[in-house]
Amino acid sequence: AIQAVIFDLDGVLVHTDRFHYEAWQRMANEEGISFDVSINDRLRGVSRMESLDIILEKSERSYTQSEKEDLADRKNEYYRELLLQLTPADAAEGALAFIARCKEQDVKTAIGSSSRNTPMILERIGLAHVFDAIADGNQIVRSKPDPEVFLLAAQQLGVDPAYCLVVEDAEAGLIAAERAGMLKAAIGAAFDSSVADYRLRNLAEMAEIVFG
Ligand code: G6P
Ligand code: MG
Repeated sequence: AIQAVIFDLDGVLVHTDRFHYEAWQRMANEEGISFDVSINDRLRGVSRMESLDIILEKSERSYTQSEKEDLADRKNEYYRELLLQLTPADAAEGALAFIARCKEQDVKTAIGSSSRNTPMILERIGLAHVFDAIADGNQIVRSKPDPEVFLLAAQQLGVDPAYCLVVEDAEAGLIAAERAGMLKAAIGAAFDSSVADYRLRNLAEMAEIVFG
């Protein structure tokens, strides 16, 4: 039986993916770098600096490490400005009810996110205090598709990875969960991924998988 559910954050519990896109777009426009929605799916689950490297593939010139850090910082400022719009109403539909049911039935819950903005986002959407563990971009060195963040979440929970179910909207995240030896549910942008064990149209469908 499933003993723990590990949620990706961006694109699963809250739709910050549109803010990431908008903030990268603003920075890319200012720099004259071409950027569009087709690149956006490759940025899901990937760390800030690795996302920047993907965006800079399109650029004519090369950037020094310190220039890259400035670009990433600038994008993050724009992004955090956008995050101020978030309220508890932006938590994905069905998330809170499902988490409450997990609590009742002794299924542990955790966050496994590459984002260093995880604490701020959880605070803004009112989910800062509902999880048994939070593993995020501030605590890891390798981002998805590396399994580090999910293994860290399982360790914090004290649950064997084989009994953990990961919910992801990113191909990189599904691969990370696979490498961690966990079960995987795909939602949103990752719906059609062949790596997934389950496919969800919404979070309410988690109940059937976890509680049968
Ligand atoms: C999540 C998002 C990525 C983002 C990464 C780092 O995994 O899906 O698009 O690049 O977090 O986010 P951060 O908030 O640290 O810039
Ligand atoms: Mg995601």
